[in-house]
Amino acid sequence: MSKMNNINYVDIVCGLAWGDEAKGKIVSQLAKSGKYDYVCRWAGGNNAGHTIYIDGKKYKTHLIPSGVFYGVKSIIGPECVVNKEYFYKEIEYLKSNDFDTSLVKISPKAHIVSSSHIKEDEEKYFKQQGTTAKGIAPCYRDKYGRVGDRVGDHSNNNDFQQYIWNEKLEGNILCEGAQGFWLDINYGNYPFVTSSSTLPYSACSLGFSPKLINNIYGACKIYDTRSGFDPDFPEELLENHELSLIAKEGKEYGTTTGRKRKVNYLNIFKLCQSINISGTTHLIISKI
Ligand code: IMP
Ligand code: MG
Repeated sequence: MSKMNNINYVDIVCGLAWGDEAKGKIVSQLAKSGKYDYVCRWAGGNNAGHTIYIDGKKYKTHLIPSGVFYGVKSIIGPECVVNKEYFYKEIEYLKSNDFDTSLVKISPKAHIVSSSHIKEDEEKYFKQQGTTAKGIAPCYRDKYGRVGDRVGDHSNNNDFQQYIWNEKLEGNILCEGAQGFWLDINYGNYPFVTSSSTLPYSACSLGFSPKLINNIYGACKIYDTRSGFDPDFPEELLENHELSLIAKEGKEYGTTTGRKRKVNYLNIFKLCQSINISGTTHLIISKI
């Protein structure tokens, strides 16, 4: 059968735990190999946080995929949510560090996070569920309630237009996961989850067949961590002496919120489940 499009293959990096599994480090290693034509984010918004080191210098992004650091086209997909003001901040940050921001594009189908989404998250969800307060839940609610505002609706803005994506994916694709398996809207400890699907199958929302998926790099740590509120990670964990030593050694505080993460011993049953359901082909365990 002839191929529907010119995509060669798709590799995916996903988190197997509760986020903060050093996905950024893995994506960076892969992106700099030079074998990918695109690096794409498929879900979430600036609730994520990726830390990357290049020549000993530390860079942080929350929304823009890491391809931009290695001269690879970087796509924010249709299932993502975009805070425009924050997007421009990140663009300025990348420009000031001499990265080529013309590589960055956003799907016209991605939804816009408004200031009222953020306000609602700060006032409600942040207090009740310990979210990142970036407006994620209210934005996805409006999307699924079919009253959302999309990136494409902002295409009449001359400056923003240059960032709107109007091409097809082709060649070799790397998909950069955000959050992790157990923060997924379906699999996580609802309602202490994020509002999108963090599993590799959801990357197909970028516009390719699941049959094109080649490698799935699953990331985890040798111990578990949780930023944000979750009854499965009670506050008492912060008082455990041994776990505090692990937290200190592992520098466990959030890149997005700066909060201390709760640390626990590895839940191997959950890890086996997330490996199996995600379809992980390569397991990468950090902080051993
Ligand atoms: P939200 O995605 O901001 O709505 O937050 C929902 C839950 O997911 C909260 O418990 C957050 O702490 C957690 N969360 C969201 N994004 C990340 C991430 O990138 N790393 C770790 N936890 C996250
Ligand atoms: Mg992170």
